Amino acid sequence: MTTDHIQSPAVFWEEFYLTKRTSSSGRATAALQRIAVALTPGLSLDLGASHGDDVIWLAQQGWHARGCDISQVAVEQAQARAAELGLAQGAQFERCDLSVSLPEGGFDLITALYLQSPVALARAAILGQATRRLRPGGHLLVLSHAAPPPWSPQATSSTIFPTVAEELDAIGAPSAELEVIEAQVVTRPGRGPDGAGALLEDNLVLVQRNRA
Ligand SMILES: C[S@@+](CC[C@H](N)C(=O)[O-])C[C@H]1O[C@@H](n2cnc3c(N)ncnc32)[C@H](O)[C@@H]1O
Repeated sequence: MTTDHIQSPAVFWEEFYLTKRTSSSGRATAALQRIAVALTPGLSLDLGASHGDDVIWLAQQGWHARGCDISQVAVEQAQARAAELGLAQGAQFERCDLSVSLPEGGFDLITALYLQSPVALARAAILGQATRRLRPGGHLLVLSHAAPPPWSPQATSSTIFPTVAEELDAIGAPSAELEVIEAQVVTRPGRGPDGAGALLEDNLVLVQRNRA
């Protein structure tokens, strides 16, 4: 097996879902819940949807919710979970490579929740493309790790995590078309492998495409 093969994003993430994250938490992201309850349900798209917990939650709130992920295993688990819950119509999943293209269509809400990767990912291009897929009045929510958890080996390495300002740059906001609704570091409780708790820091950016 060559190094290139090991580092292919499709191979890396398929292996991740086959061996590391083999089951869903079943919980939607708290920041998404806080923000989405204030929005009128429409058509949503989750970029890097993993096992689909966020997409399924949005469908339960009345959204026509779509999600895509590079891992076929994750997509199939998400589809199976949605079907089990009777949400196969409202919560739809497909395999995609976002570094190549986004699923077709215009959306009222696009989410990129921890769309971060240790292997190649054209993240800034993906976020820029996502803004162009927003319908008038539509929102893009980007949530990203702002720092490694204290129990991660990355906590002592020089791995660079984005700042809120860098996230706004990647999104291209504010601009004539995009209003910044929220841009801040938020915290959430986390628990490490040894059971110790810590407050984890995330960048949260919410932008809205102008209605005009
Ligand atoms: C850090 S995980 C976050 C997953 C989920 N959104 C969450 O909040 O837990 C990143 C996700 O992005 C997906 N991903 C990575 N590169 C991708 C790509 N090029 N196209 C589509 N999905 C990708 C991975 O398979 C993984 O599910």
